[in-house]
Amino acid sequence: MTQNASSKKIIDLPCSQKINDDDVAQNHPDNYFRRDFVKYLAIAIPIMNLPLSSGVNATTKPERRPPQAGDRLTYFQKSKRGQIIKLSDLKELDKPLLVVPFDVENNVVKDGSRYNQILLQKLPSELLSAETKKRSDQGVIAYSAICTHAGCPVTGWMADEKNYMCPCHQSVFNPKDSGVVVSGPATRGLPAIGLKIEADEIILTNTFNSWIGFGKRPK
Ligand code: FES
Repeated sequence: MTQNASSKKIIDLPCSQKINDDDVAQNHPDNYFRRDFVKYLAIAIPIMNLPLSSGVNATTKPERRPPQAGDRLTYFQKSKRGQIIKLSDLKELDKPLLVVPFDVENNVVKDGSRYNQILLQKLPSELLSAETKKRSDQGVIAYSAICTHAGCPVTGWMADEKNYMCPCHQSVFNPKDSGVVVSGPATRGLPAIGLKIEADEIILTNTFNSWIGFGKRPK
C-alpha cells in the first residue's frame, strides 16, 4: 500500500509488463484490422475471391487478437492463467483484477499483446452511471488497463473514492462512470468493454469501445 501526495489511500495492483514501443506501434487493436485487411486484399482476393469478412484477421497471431464478443476472461497472473474467471470469484468492492481475454472456442488465451490487458471489478450496481450499467452486469465492469496518457499500466485502486489511478503521472479515472478522467494529465477516459453474466460465467459482449493507449485515434 502506498500514499500519494494528498495522503489518499491507494492500493497498488500487480504491475503488468513494461511498455514496449514496438508493441504499442504494432499491436494497437485498430491496427489489427488495417494490417490484416491490406494483407488480405493483396493475397486472398486475387487468388481465392473470398468474401471480405472471412480473412480479415487470418494473419494475426490468435493470442494477439483483441477481445471480442463471446470471449471469457482469465487471470493475468501466470499461475492462474487459463482459469476462467466467474462471477463467484469476484468480491464486491475488492480491488480490480488484472485479466486477459480467453477465446474459449479456439482455446486461446489472448495474452500476446499488453493492449489486451483488462481491469475487471465488481462494484455495487447503484454506484454505476446509466451508461456504465448498460455495458455491465450485476455490477461487474471491465476497462482497458492501459493508461490513455502515455501507456503505463493503470495499477492504483483508490478504495475510498473508488477510482483507478495511473502511477506514472497520477491520472485518475472513474470506473463508475465510463472510465472518465477525474484528474489528468490524461485527457481521455479508459476504454470500456461490455460484458454479460450467464450462469456465473462472465462473457464479453463486444470489444473495447475506443482505441487503447495514448495518442490520437489511429486513422
Ligand atoms: S501514463 Fe498514466 S498518467 Fe501518464
